[in-house]
Amino acid sequence: MKELTLNNGVKIPILGFGTFEISPAQTKQSVLSALEDGYRLIDTAQYYQNEEQVGEAVRESKLKRDEVFITTKTMTDGYEATKAGLDESLRRSGLDYFDLVLIHWPMGHDLDTWRALEEAYQAGKARAIGISNFNSRQTLELINQGQVRPMVDQIETHMFLQQWKMHEFLEKEGIIHESYSPLGNGQQNLMSNLVLQEIGSKYGKSPIQVILRYLIQNNIMTIPRSTNPEHIKSNIDIFDFELGEDDLKKLRKLDQRKPIDGWPAEMREDEDY
Ligand SMILES: NC(=O)c1ccc[n+]([C@@H]2O[C@H](COP(=O)([O-])OP(=O)(O)OC[C@H]3O[C@@H](n4cnc5c(N)ncnc54)[C@H](OP(=O)(O)O)[C@@H]3O)[C@@H](O)[C@H]2O)c1
Repeated sequence: MKELTLNNGVKIPILGFGTFEISPAQTKQSVLSALEDGYRLIDTAQYYQNEEQVGEAVRESKLKRDEVFITTKTMTDGYEATKAGLDESLRRSGLDYFDLVLIHWPMGHDLDTWRALEEAYQAGKARAIGISNFNSRQTLELINQGQVRPMVDQIETHMFLQQWKMHEFLEKEGIIHESYSPLGNGQQNLMSNLVLQEIGSKYGKSPIQVILRYLIQNNIMTIPRSTNPEHIKSNIDIFDFELGEDDLKKLRKLDQRKPIDGWPAEMREDEDY
């Protein structure tokens, strides 16, 4: 598994497993399948209500704790609620620490919320901290007024919203760009996209594998989600081929700067490039 290095030196797998919309009842099995197939990063959140089952799966997998990178996200606004919420997440998941804690989305008192994450980081409850759904202005506010520079920004990024302007901004600021909903949340009919099919057939790969390879080849971390064991296996089978320059260009042209319908609007002001 290829890794990236966060701005505090911590290594993070470039591909992980997402658990949004996986019910608590299905989570343990799906995460166990993913770990068995070689995934070493699991992405959960307080909002997903499955932190407990993620913790159980990691223990049941018999992998050592430091072999798995676990991300969670806070859903509270302000210092006190976030501090208490994070302790509750640790208790619920049965973990001593998270590898990465993100503010799930901006809410208004983000500097205060960030202070709770900074404290958790300094206390060893999180090996790294970051943000999600933050645009460049909101990110700069934390950089300029916080004590610790965010290490990751997890943002909606897929073929039809490639986020190149944000990518450049994050790269310049030393923050890793993590793509969420890399497969368009299952709403984009990707398997029948002709460009993806044509490129995939050259390499003996599916349209979905082409997308995931495209992201990681551009140093964008990502976390596809699936409850189908065959999909879970094939989504990690992307490390044995390399897209050529012409194909990378064709894939870049698929960008329509179009978010998934109904998704958060925070990032849109970063689209005017
Ligand atoms: N920070 C945030 O605000 C935020 C927001 C959204 C998502 N996320 C994170 O990003 C992760 C991924 O995003 P997402 O959950 O929106 O969805 P996604 O990964 O973009 O797409 C998941 C959909 O793709 C299908 N799929 C997966 N692999 C496939 C394959 N090989 N062939 C065909 N279909 C396939 C899945 O169906 P099957 O189950 O049938 O395979 C599911 O319907 C989340 O789970 C979560 O961890 C974060």
